[in-house]
Amino acid sequence: MDAVTTSTATAAVTTWRLDTANRTAVFASFDNGVPALVHFGTRLNSEERLETIAALSVPNISGGQLDPLVPLSLIPTAMTGWQGHPGFITHAGDPSAVPDLFLRTVDERDDNGLTFVVADRISQAAIEIAIRLYSDSELMSLTVFPLGDMADPFDWLALSIPVPPDMSRIVDHGGRWCGEFQRKESRFGIGQHVRESREGRSGHAHFPGITFMADSASKTDGHCMAVSLCWSGGHKIVAEQLPDGRRHVQLGIANDQPLNAWIRPIEIWLAWSNRGMNDLTHALTGKTRQTLPRKPQRPVHYNCWEAVYFRHNVDELKAIASMAAELGAERFVLDDGWFKGRDDDTTSLGDWVVDDDKFPEGLGPLVDHVRECGMEFGIWFEPEMVNKSSDLYAAHPDWVLGAQHQPAGRNQFVLDLSKPGVSEYLFDAISKIVEDHHVTYIKWDHNRVLTGGTPRQTHELYNLMRRLNDAHPQLEIESCASGGGRIDYGILHYTTRVWLSDSNDALERLRMQHEAGLWLPPEVQGSHVGPRVCHTSGRVFSMGFRAWVAAQRHMGFEMDPRELTEDERRMLRGVTDWYKANRDFLFSARYHRLESNDPEVLAELFVGADKGRFIAFKGQAGTSSAIAASAFLLSGIDADAIYRLRLINPEVVPSTTNRYTGSHLMSGAPIELSGRALMCGALRLPNAFPATMMVVEGERLDHPT
Ligand code: GLA
Repeated sequence: MDAVTTSTATAAVTTWRLDTANRTAVFASFDNGVPALVHFGTRLNSEERLETIAALSVPNISGGQLDPLVPLSLIPTAMTGWQGHPGFITHAGDPSAVPDLFLRTVDERDDNGLTFVVADRISQAAIEIAIRLYSDSELMSLTVFPLGDMADPFDWLALSIPVPPDMSRIVDHGGRWCGEFQRKESRFGIGQHVRESREGRSGHAHFPGITFMADSASKTDGHCMAVSLCWSGGHKIVAEQLPDGRRHVQLGIANDQPLNAWIRPIEIWLAWSNRGMNDLTHALTGKTRQTLPRKPQRPVHYNCWEAVYFRHNVDELKAIASMAAELGAERFVLDDGWFKGRDDDTTSLGDWVVDDDKFPEGLGPLVDHVRECGMEFGIWFEPEMVNKSSDLYAAHPDWVLGAQHQPAGRNQFVLDLSKPGVSEYLFDAISKIVEDHHVTYIKWDHNRVLTGGTPRQTHELYNLMRRLNDAHPQLEIESCASGGGRIDYGILHYTTRVWLSDSNDALERLRMQHEAGLWLPPEVQGSHVGPRVCHTSGRVFSMGFRAWVAAQRHMGFEMDPRELTEDERRMLRGVTDWYKANRDFLFSARYHRLESNDPEVLAELFVGADKGRFIAFKGQAGTSSAIAASAFLLSGIDADAIYRLRLINPEVVPSTTNRYTGSHLMSGAPIELSGRALMCGALRLPNAFPATMMVVEGERLDHPT
């Protein structure tokens, strides 16, 4: 990293660079203004003329704008002549209060990082921008936060990240309850592309991340960039194209009240790739794995929600637990319904003591039985919530967050975690259950949106989760919010699993987890085999399909095992055994989403670090438009090696596929092909029925080509 100051025709420019093996980031300050990110991507030569790159990043003047040449600084404001969305907004509505920022100090840190402190000539506010480029993941982290006691509240603070000019495509992920992580693509045009969650959680509708792609880019090739806000509360993303053609993106905290100096550092992660979206995934998931509070164990879950809902009966639960264990479950999760008076969703949230009627001898007998079956015990909480019908509300009506007359959501209200005593109460109540029953796992739910006070709440939530993680080293927490309503890199600093969706519909899951795969390591995505007739879609899928979809991620079951036929049981046990034998490989492998020119095919590949082994999943969602299955192109394997591969579930091949030339594969026998041929599309798998999954395992042979 070198700081270099030179003068261009118009300004004194100081530049800094950060490098990894394959990436360079260049920052430039013009006339001591807030630095701009003028290059992030390809590794530049060490002699590169950084000041020239900086100078050329500023476009020429044309009509209809202010006089100065305007760099796209990390925190642009109108005082520099910037006409786009500002990075810092204070006293909105007061024209004399437009921030006028300058660079006060620079610290060139020895962790491949830079810290800039910028200050406002008007309000005297000081803001720190801390940047780090990680050598292992090649991901850049940029953090911004107000320093000291910033006297005046502010409305918006976000870093501006330039979007390279070749990336005209905007890819968003979001959706709705039971329809999370839908991919939506649009294009830049002059003006703003805005996504905002104002519900106090990252939300089903808007994953707090955005991807930009060149026209020619794909999952496996080409230029693209991903940026995400590490924050679990409300957020706002503004991607904007200026009339001069420049594009940038800002990600910040959505505020329903002025923000203030207590706000946490706001961190974003930035990844760039010239080899398609899979390289973005490798950067993002590599970093995520490092930030998880502990290395996740991945026991097969059994969750009783869709089997019994609120109907908790010890004998019935014991019977279910025994059957789940026989099927291969290793952790039994007691979902909603176990605490005092909780017979439906109108009551009892906040009263985290065991229901005497349902569990006359406490949870002990059930927990003992679960352990005797060889399983760990996990339990559901929804700590941030309270029903008005509860002892807690009767004792502390003032603990509710927000206005008195706000609407309820699922009959419940939110506890204000910043009020004295609230977090303490929750910490003690949760810790007691965890300690009494040696709980190893909490499913932490959040089933309503907030109507105010949101950033502070998120901050306090993190504190509470941190305390629980510190106090209970065996504990893992899963983030659930009516399914995938709180999934982001902020919550993944405190939790090790996310509940992607309340939809256990395997077909919906196949698409959802494939799209979520861009952002999240496979092992943090919970995926359960649901009931035969799906409770949220009414659809019926084969056990083979349901089980294989779950086995691609952190596998679990969530049906009443008493409904299973002997065939279904055999199939589920078989796939579960396969998952157990292969999970260590799957979750240490490099994960690739494969390109397919068939929208009905969703294919994924897990490649071992030494490329010696791979597992490929070819999910057939619907009926393809072509009669014959299209070529199946692998990626990221060893081109020069010969692989022996085998379709491990040939029973999925329709019996009508009787004139398929690769008949070896169809019968489950191995074939041999070079990595190069496999990556060029030599492999053509048999036709498949809709809602089926083919699983191919490959192993490198020792002899060279
Ligand atoms: C939410 C969760 C479900 C279940 C219920 C319990 O909807 O997403 O999985 O835990 O709450 O009330």
